[in-house]
Amino acid sequence: MCPDDRSEEIRRVPWEHPDWYDLHDTTWTAGPEREPEHYRELVLALPPLDAGDHLVDVGAGTGKLAALIARAYPRLGRVTLIEPNADKLERAQARLGELLPGARVEALAAGLGDRSRLPRGAATLLTIGSVLMPIMELRGGTLVDGLEWLRTALDEVGSALSPRGVLFAAETLAPPWARGGGADPVRRLAMAELTAELERAGFADVECAYRFRDRVVLSARWAP
Ligand SMILES: C[S@@+](CC[C@H](N)C(=O)[O-])C[C@H]1O[C@@H](n2cnc3c(N)ncnc32)[C@H](O)[C@@H]1O
Repeated sequence: MCPDDRSEEIRRVPWEHPDWYDLHDTTWTAGPEREPEHYRELVLALPPLDAGDHLVDVGAGTGKLAALIARAYPRLGRVTLIEPNADKLERAQARLGELLPGARVEALAAGLGDRSRLPRGAATLLTIGSVLMPIMELRGGTLVDGLEWLRTALDEVGSALSPRGVLFAAETLAPPWARGGGADPVRRLAMAELTAELERAGFADVECAYRFRDRVVLSARWAP
């Protein structure tokens, strides 16, 4: 192999380079210890929230992200928690009810991409905390299957936003060595791919508010 071919090969498969391999082996993902910083940066990137705001948290789990937002903005007027797991949803609703005694806190047992009836045009802030990439991957199938789910999910997310509403998503992206086209097994997306999917769905002003290795916070406006 001549030197030019070798450098092209290394760009394509960087882990074949012994120095790159020693630097990156097991260190590419940010790891769970970075999660508090990741979520905190999402909260810091938010616009000011008040009594007239309606937070819709999709894939709310037990309400961890919504609770951080509620602690930061205790005058928040309305919260809708959307989560397919009924036990988690119940805990999330109880948690948010305690944190925001004066707010209207509602819960909806539903999942993105399941053709459930999500609220339409209602959210001034819609948050998604670690849902799109992990659930797309967990559902299995091919990348085409995953993208089909993601596109339906993003359409539902956009439709849930009010005209002045904004989306904030905390996600974990694919590692740089992730490969595979439509017929290959589903995988997480790279930053450029996820940004392109958001724009394809009708989001505008897609911004990266935070990135550490695979952890990102993206914000966008719904402008179909
Ligand atoms: C990694 S957890 C994140 C939970 C929470 N947002 C947080 O940050 O702690 C992913 C959540 O997505 C939920 N989930 C599973 N399928 C979903 C779907 N189709 N749409 C929305 N959420 C889903 C899971 O039940 C789980 O609670």
